Amino acid sequence: MEIKKVSVIGAGLMGHGITQVLAQIAGYEVSLKDIKQEFIDTGMGRIQWSLGKLVEKEKLAQTDADATLQRIHPTLDMKEAMSDTDFVIEAVPENLELKKKIFAEIDQLAPPHAILSSNTSSISISRIATATKRPDKVVGMHFFNPVQIMKLVEIIRGDKTSDNTVSVVKQVSQKMGKETVLCKKDSPGFIVNRILVPALNEAIWLLQEDVAEPEDIDKAIKLGLNWPMGPITLLDYVGLDTTLSITKVFQKEMDEQKYAAAPLLGKMVKEGKLGRKTKQGFYDWNK
Ligand code: CAA
Ligand code: NAD
Repeated sequence: MEIKKVSVIGAGLMGHGITQVLAQIAGYEVSLKDIKQEFIDTGMGRIQWSLGKLVEKEKLAQTDADATLQRIHPTLDMKEAMSDTDFVIEAVPENLELKKKIFAEIDQLAPPHAILSSNTSSISISRIATATKRPDKVVGMHFFNPVQIMKLVEIIRGDKTSDNTVSVVKQVSQKMGKETVLCKKDSPGFIVNRILVPALNEAIWLLQEDVAEPEDIDKAIKLGLNWPMGPITLLDYVGLDTTLSITKVFQKEMDEQKYAAAPLLGKMVKEGKLGRKTKQGFYDWNK
């Protein structure tokens, strides 16, 4: 199947990076849809910043950066985003009802051959697929933050996903310069987040129990486990709202007690301290 146009739904932390890599590395025409102009502007601003960095470091020619931007078509109109699309990547907040609503809408508007993928971090692909009449073409395509740098895509098979759909996602991922792994079962958090999120939650318990300062928790894991960034910093990068949503999916789908979020995480989210995206998380990002 030849892919010419890809549509990304959501221009946030993940959607902007996915859009950039689709246009810059894979060379696709990309439609980028969000609900408000300000979110589109923020997403496009991040893409411009990132392309600028690559040009500055002579990793990308200015003409290629300009051509990348030419291939990105921002829009607030779902019909326009879906017209003639071959492949959709949804990257809206981690909420099953919202994702189902969007999948029902894109199923109506996208051409029948189009594949509909979700960048969900933890939600069941099979459940999302129930909102559509093409569950064989619904699949998980899980990227990692920052998408411009991180090499992995987890491909998640829902219970009705076809072999052909999995194979097309693999091709698109490879064209984007990514390595893939296949999650054979639609299991909560797939591979990486099943391991990562409980570890991040444990780091919050350490803070809450006043066992160590955030800087020391980060230093311990960076130097003791060779992570590129400590868990408290990583939480601020991922977003505390997204992390909390993932723990809720784990609780509902697997074990209520075992996966309960540390209360401090819920408190931070209630206070609107979501991490780097709100400039305040466990650390102050105003500087
Ligand atoms: N665009 C272009 N370049 C970027 C960039 C972007 N968006 N973000 C960072 N860079 C560049 C920097 O400019 C820098 O380039 P040079 O090496 O050429 O100078 C390089 O990337 C490294 O950046 P920094 O020096 O600023 O910082 P760093 O060395 O700490 O690297 C990092 C940054 C790649 C993010 C690294 O810290 C890292 O790998 N952190 C862990 C990330 C991680 O674990 N991600 C997964 C999160 S979980 C997830 O995503 C799944 C989920 O569902 C929640
Ligand atoms: P985000 O809050 O930064 O971005 C979400 C974007 O979706 C926002 O710009 C929002 O305006 C937009 N949106 C909301 N409703 C919409 C609608 N109806 N139509 C179009 N756009 C809409 O969130 P994010 O961190 O980019 O996460 C997006 C998805 O990616 C989530 O499912 C999350 O679990 C997953 N994910 C996140 C990370 C991470 O590190 N943050 C990593 C991998 C996967």
